[in-house]
Amino acid sequence: MRVGVLTGGGDCPGLNAVIRAVVRKGNKDYGYEFVGFRDGWRGPLEGDTMPLDRAAVSGILPRGGTILGSSRTNLMKIDGGVERVKDNMAGLGIDALVAIGGEDTLGVATQLTERGVNVIGVPKTIDNDLNATDYTFGFDTAVNIATEAIDRLHTTAESHHRALIVEVMGRHAGWIALHAGMAGGANVILIPERPFDIHQVVAHVESRFKTNYAPIIVVAEGAHPQEGQMELATGETDSFGHVRLGGIGQRLAEEIESRTGKEARSVVLGHVQRGGTPSAFDRVLATRLGVNAAEAVHAGDFGKMVALQGTNIVRVPLAAATEKLKTVPVERYEEAEVFFG
Ligand code: F6P
Repeated sequence: MRVGVLTGGGDCPGLNAVIRAVVRKGNKDYGYEFVGFRDGWRGPLEGDTMPLDRAAVSGILPRGGTILGSSRTNLMKIDGGVERVKDNMAGLGIDALVAIGGEDTLGVATQLTERGVNVIGVPKTIDNDLNATDYTFGFDTAVNIATEAIDRLHTTAESHHRALIVEVMGRHAGWIALHAGMAGGANVILIPERPFDIHQVVAHVESRFKTNYAPIIVVAEGAHPQEGQMELATGETDSFGHVRLGGIGQRLAEEIESRTGKEARSVVLGHVQRGGTPSAFDRVLATRLGVNAAEAVHAGDFGKMVALQGTNIVRVPLAAATEKLKTVPVERYEEAEVFFG
């Protein structure tokens, strides 16, 4: 059997660990041959492949990024795209696809399944907002990077008696902000699920200054103020219709500075959170997901996504992964709020 593998959407640490595990398990136990598709859905669309044998995956376990490349190509927006993918797969003698991606990549995978393509999904996003899986690999690494940054920012903020605003990734869900903010002892955490009250944020900042400590505010890039409180800039959109975010940290710094009279600076962690070597947790999770994806192919259990539930890897319908976003529940935010101000 020949199996295609692709990685789509924003990259994240652990992608190479999944690719390696799928190939090693499939080679060893089932004698499968693998073909790598380059740059997400662009690969099968254009028939752009690379060899994916044991040698190609050797030494990639700790490497960040993806040896296959990634893109945000939206197959469903391309006329005749699905037919081209099917033709290319047939021409290459590929019977099944392992698609490693987030909501967009797996959304396309769901639609391909409905049109008769044999697909197994592997959940990936540093945002941790995919439904039907407790954690996605890449998230733990991103939280560790953001926590280390917050630890460092505490000391320089203290020296200069200024507020520091740390903007982290998280377009629709505030998981990275919540975990890194809690681990790093942030004085305020702002997430997309909970429109913030700027007066309350300013009150927390002022109370922190009163105790002679410098406030650290962790804000998810998708966080926004309650209606009518502050003006925000809007950016361009990608092929899946997502607005390119970034800017809330700077806006908050301006607002805090003008309302408190104290100096406030913003730090945008951006793609640093997605780069570099995966944490041990993410390597193990990615490896287990890869092994289980190869098993799912062998079982012919197509249209499924492998997922972490508790400590087990299970298979869920691909559609379950994308039917809704896994956002931060109110009670999780309330636990963090204990430490605000
Ligand atoms: O979906 C993962 C993610 O890292 C989001 O947190 C972020 O909003 C987005 O990707 C950034 O995308 P890009 O790499 O296209 O700038």
